[in-house]
Amino acid sequence: MIGGGYVGLVSGACLAAFGAEVTVIEQDPARLARLQSGDVPIYEPGLAALLERQRIAGRLSFCGHLAEALPGREAVFIAVGTPARRGSGHADLRYVSQVVEELARCAENLPGGRELLVVMKSTVPVGTGRDVARKLAELRPDLRFTVASNPEFLREGEAINDFMQPDRVVIGLDGQRPGADRARAFLTRLYCSETSSLTPDRLAFMGLESAELTKYAANAFLALKVTFINEMADLCEASGGVIEEVARGMGLDPRIGAAFLQPGPGYGGSCFPKDTRALATTARQKGTPMQLVETTIATNEARKRRLAERILALAATLRPLSSDPDAAERPQNGEVQIAVLGLAFKAGTDDMRDAPALTILPLLLEAGARLHLYDPQAMAQARTQLGQREGLTFAASLEDALAQAELVVVLTEWPLFRALTPQTLARLMPGRLVIDCRNLWPPEEMRAAGFTYHRLGRGLD
Ligand code: UDX
Repeated sequence: MIGGGYVGLVSGACLAAFGAEVTVIEQDPARLARLQSGDVPIYEPGLAALLERQRIAGRLSFCGHLAEALPGREAVFIAVGTPARRGSGHADLRYVSQVVEELARCAENLPGGRELLVVMKSTVPVGTGRDVARKLAELRPDLRFTVASNPEFLREGEAINDFMQPDRVVIGLDGQRPGADRARAFLTRLYCSETSSLTPDRLAFMGLESAELTKYAANAFLALKVTFINEMADLCEASGGVIEEVARGMGLDPRIGAAFLQPGPGYGGSCFPKDTRALATTARQKGTPMQLVETTIATNEARKRRLAERILALAATLRPLSSDPDAAERPQNGEVQIAVLGLAFKAGTDDMRDAPALTILPLLLEAGARLHLYDPQAMAQARTQLGQREGLTFAASLEDALAQAELVVVLTEWPLFRALTPQTLARLMPGRLVIDCRNLWPPEEMRAAGFTYHRLGRGLD
């Protein structure tokens, strides 16, 4: 398993649990040392324990060099990063290329005429699998190998379960190549082992290009669904509808489905923003632009900015903000104190990549608001991403964040916040204004506790 990042660690640990003997290759010496000492550098529920169990069972190890780990192995999974390139938004395949070159240097032919299986787990643009096969064949004409595409659909916070009990495992193979049948049999054995609860009907075999496209298509479609419900929420606010009722009514149609119909501050994370941009770029390059995907990207960006404007407009009802041109003429009593609950792009993770907070909070700071930030997991990431800025406090606890709050803004749906009763919230903060971008509390209870409560997709009663 090449790459000890999120995908590599989860996939490596789970495949070991399925009975495979796995070595995770991590190039970064500091990260490798942490992994070898049993320390897991990412937050994912259950991952540390699973890695440890597999290590003790002798099925999982970590190593710095592919050449050391490769002899005797039947398959190589590539799980390196494919970050978005600045500007174009296209996936940067430099790490994938390095792996192919490394493979060409150290791979040996397997006994019995079998092919080494090279499986792409990283999210890569359509055509990459075929390019990898071409390049490897050029560099090593003697090597017998087969390339497969096996994209992951893991959700952060649910990754172990998503890997162990997936709705489907997508596997792309070039059926024309010798070894395709053997690769199919090998991957079926790997995923549907005695210790896995997967059955072969869960495996969706298809062509290489189709598998590569499926990953982008699925993520873009989900991003589109979230963006659609966000726009519906805006319309509900303007017209008297209640978004939860509309979403329920829509979701009862199995063709639509109830999942991914919760309004929020805009989608974020390591996948949706990157994959939608990459898909839009690919489609343009191929001469078939995907207008829907491009509009989804632009709508999601605009949403974050509009939410910031809305928060500022409500903050200005408390006291003029310093960016307000009339502010100097009015009596001042310090800037508006805002508690921000939740910074990660969603609950269950410490991931701040493309989190809506990264767009919304700087706009609030520019307007002169004082922000007290709290997130149960993402404080360290938030510090790195947002840095020290005038008006920004990283609170040590939820209570600290709320202690001076005149206004609360909820950005992430952490159970810890949902568990706060409106009465407790009222006791912990001096103000009575709440802007909830995750619809955590019942509006009647919030009103009864004295709050002016703004939530998404419902006009203020
Ligand atoms: C996603 C895909 O679900 C997964 O299959 C893929 O492999 C990686 O990308 P993840 O990034 O972990 O997983 O997040 P997910 O739970 O899918 O949420 C994505 C974003 O949509 C988050 O910002 C979330 O807050 C938002 N979202 C999701 C909503 O706003 N409303 C919803 O109803 C669902």
